[in-house]
Amino acid sequence: MQEKIIEYLKTSEGYLSGEVISQACNISRAAIWKHIEELRRLGYSIEAAPHKGYRVVSDPDKFFPWEMQRNLKTKIIGKKIIYQDEVLSTMDDAFSLGVGGAEEGTVVFAETQTKGRGRRGRDWVSSKGKGVYMSVILRPDASLADASKLTLLAAVAICEAINDVADVEARIKWPNDVLIGGKKISGILTELNAEVDRVKFIVLGIGINVNTTARQLLGVATSLKAETSKNFSRVDVARKVLESLDKWYVLFKQQAFISILNRWQELSMTLGQEITLTDMGGEVKGQAIGLADDGGLFIRQVNGDIVKRMSGDVKVSL
Ligand code: BTN
Repeated sequence: MQEKIIEYLKTSEGYLSGEVISQACNISRAAIWKHIEELRRLGYSIEAAPHKGYRVVSDPDKFFPWEMQRNLKTKIIGKKIIYQDEVLSTMDDAFSLGVGGAEEGTVVFAETQTKGRGRRGRDWVSSKGKGVYMSVILRPDASLADASKLTLLAAVAICEAINDVADVEARIKWPNDVLIGGKKISGILTELNAEVDRVKFIVLGIGINVNTTARQLLGVATSLKAETSKNFSRVDVARKVLESLDKWYVLFKQQAFISILNRWQELSMTLGQEITLTDMGGEVKGQAIGLADDGGLFIRQVNGDIVKRMSGDVKVSL
């Protein structure tokens, strides 16, 4: 009922009388008061004026399902949203939901993670209420080899969403980091549940630094706030990401991966650069010359040999 009331309040101009809410929701004035108190507890600032009614003064910019789904233009992603205040990692929650049969497009959001994780066993620092921390459950009809394509897809979607909401130039560092001016603003972690060679489901984990301050970022990473000196609505940023992901995922399902690869290349900051790639096999130095159809990176080594790598850490040589 709270969500219905906040919907009425947010979509009406000025004050809304208790009488009108009471009739629209078919509940007593006393019940409305209780729900208003509950909304205030959730962080909404709601003014109550005698003879006028109620009005929302500010909202807490939290990933409540009703906030995320307001005007959300997606076909698949975000039809179901799970909101948590604090979790160990949204990856674990989403994975359990996936095992339990959660529908494709279900998204788990958290305000903070106490054990947020990144690729290669790294931590993902998740300052409370400052970033977007989310995991999306996808059920593509894909082989294991195709799964890495979804990581590229996510990088394209996030990069576009960030460039759309803020006046910045985000670029993709192979395979799936999103950077602004050489500093990381977003990371993607893909975990999957598969049998033999078929994917049962994929959990796409996305972390974006939104209102994190330069001090909290320790200099190595960046955020929308650090880049622009402005605060952003995390709900708006996350909604844009869901919409962009949805757009590219629908194309992926229509077998249009080539359009994703092309867009990835346009947004890439790696191609053409002299790089050092480190993976479990050691280091490869050379020029990043192209992206393979499966998302692998072609590197031309100094001796002219061309090698392909599917994963690893890339450093651009200056
Ligand atoms: C990386 O760049 O290494 C990937 C970082 C992925 C971070 C996100 S935040 C939401 C989700 N939950 C996690 O524990 N990790 C991912």
